[in-house]
Amino acid sequence: MIVARTLAELRAARAAVSGTVGLVPTMGALHDGHRTLLDHARADNDAVVATIFVNPAQFGPNEDFSAYPRTVEADLATFERAGVDIAFTPLTAEVYPPGFQTTVEVEHVSQGLEGGRRPGHFKGVATVVAKLFNMAQPTTAYFGQKDAQQVVVIRRMAADLNFPTDIAVIPTQREADGLALSSRNRYLTPAECAAAPVIYRALTAAGEMYAAGERHPDALRATMQAVLASEPLGRVDYVSLADPVTLRELDTPTDAPMLASLTVQIGQPRLLDNALFPLHLNTRAGLTQTLGKT
Ligand code: PAF
Repeated sequence: MIVARTLAELRAARAAVSGTVGLVPTMGALHDGHRTLLDHARADNDAVVATIFVNPAQFGPNEDFSAYPRTVEADLATFERAGVDIAFTPLTAEVYPPGFQTTVEVEHVSQGLEGGRRPGHFKGVATVVAKLFNMAQPTTAYFGQKDAQQVVVIRRMAADLNFPTDIAVIPTQREADGLALSSRNRYLTPAECAAAPVIYRALTAAGEMYAAGERHPDALRATMQAVLASEPLGRVDYVSLADPVTLRELDTPTDAPMLASLTVQIGQPRLLDNALFPLHLNTRAGLTQTLGKT
């Protein structure tokens, strides 16, 4: 595995590989969810580029960029085991050199859900992902379902700016109790860890109602709220049922797919999770065809 720390090193290593290239962009602190993205990229492509860059532009002034977990040596070992060909671990000045003043903003789909709570977050994400696409020139880039709004924003950005890169959406990896894997789970106490699967139970309960024929977004939202209310350690931030392409909140029944998203604070971390309804769409093929389709 080549470890490129500068853009010049990345470009030289990229120029030496031929065939299809899979890109797995990460901010490090890798868990099995990232490992699954790497495995898909490895299985699909002739070469794999994976990046570790804690992107300051996607952190708000009240979000602690400096406290984000940094585990670069362990992450590089994970890349190596997953068969990554090129690891890119740039310094901030390499990505945002002095004088940098160009950004990418995807207007509508960046505004609600996480974008409403974290102003500027998706501008930071879209900008760095556009730059990583230009730097690594991937055939396909791999993103996790767990950050569903991020997927929608990146797909829109890639289509709008004519990037020749396919976006693959990989299903959320879960603990046996349903808790979605996340770098933030490390901040849960044992009691909070036991409480956190309520999020998955809420999604599943509404998904089963949908399977039984319920199509009214209010009824499905109410079910998720009721399940979440049964857990005293959880503080619900939002419960959303939205169109999986526009991310507009749904208020009338529809047979078209729906994206259910939940954000719940349990202890220190804000935990995110989501599912497409009908539940059978939560596969790589179903997610890739449905989420943010342009
Ligand atoms: O999902 C993430 O880890 C980040 O948002 C990404 C895509 C690597 C951009 O910094």
